Amino acid sequence: MLGMDTTGDATAGDGSVLQLRVPPNPRFGKVVREDVLAHAGRFGISPATIEDFLFAVGEGVANAVEHSGCGDVIDVRCRIDAEKIVVTIVDTGRGFARAPGDDKLPDGLAERGRGIPIMRRCSDIFAVHSVPGRGTAIVIGCYIRAGSEETSVAS
Ligand SMILES: Nc1ncnc2c1ncn2[C@@H]1O[C@H](COP(=O)(O)OP(=O)(O)O)[C@@H](O)[C@H]1O
Ligand SMILES: [Mg+2]
Repeated sequence: MLGMDTTGDATAGDGSVLQLRVPPNPRFGKVVREDVLAHAGRFGISPATIEDFLFAVGEGVANAVEHSGCGDVIDVRCRIDAEKIVVTIVDTGRGFARAPGDDKLPDGLAERGRGIPIMRRCSDIFAVHSVPGRGTAIVIGCYIRAGSEETSVAS
């Protein structure tokens, strides 16, 4: 299901790439998670397999909405192949500098700072590329365990 203000576009010939352009509005986090779930389902990936992964995707979209500080659409792509599902989330906002240790969970009473540690812990592949003043790209991937799913896309 695509949200009212998103556009979906299967850009690979085999339909294995889903592209969404999402307005920087908090309500679209749910739309992205629903659309990624539906896309995965079309390739035989069960909701249980990507439950944690979807959580990570939600944190990535939430950060782009909350922290990019710009009104441009957020570009979300979901690629599926025989072994994995990978989502990239790209904004053209303020970007940020990262330091070693940024992936450490904050203490239990901290209000903020859990999103990136959660993304790392809820994914098999995780990368942040951020350029201050230019924007941020997040890559989050999850391997589909051999034998646990039937994906119908060739690698
Ligand atoms: N897309 C983004 N654009 C700009 N800054 C970001 C982005 N994503 C994360 N950040 C920065 O990284 C910090 C840590 O993010 P996160 O771990 O999700 O914690 P929180 O969102 O609770 O602050 C944010 O407070 C923000 O400064
Ligand atoms: Mg966050």
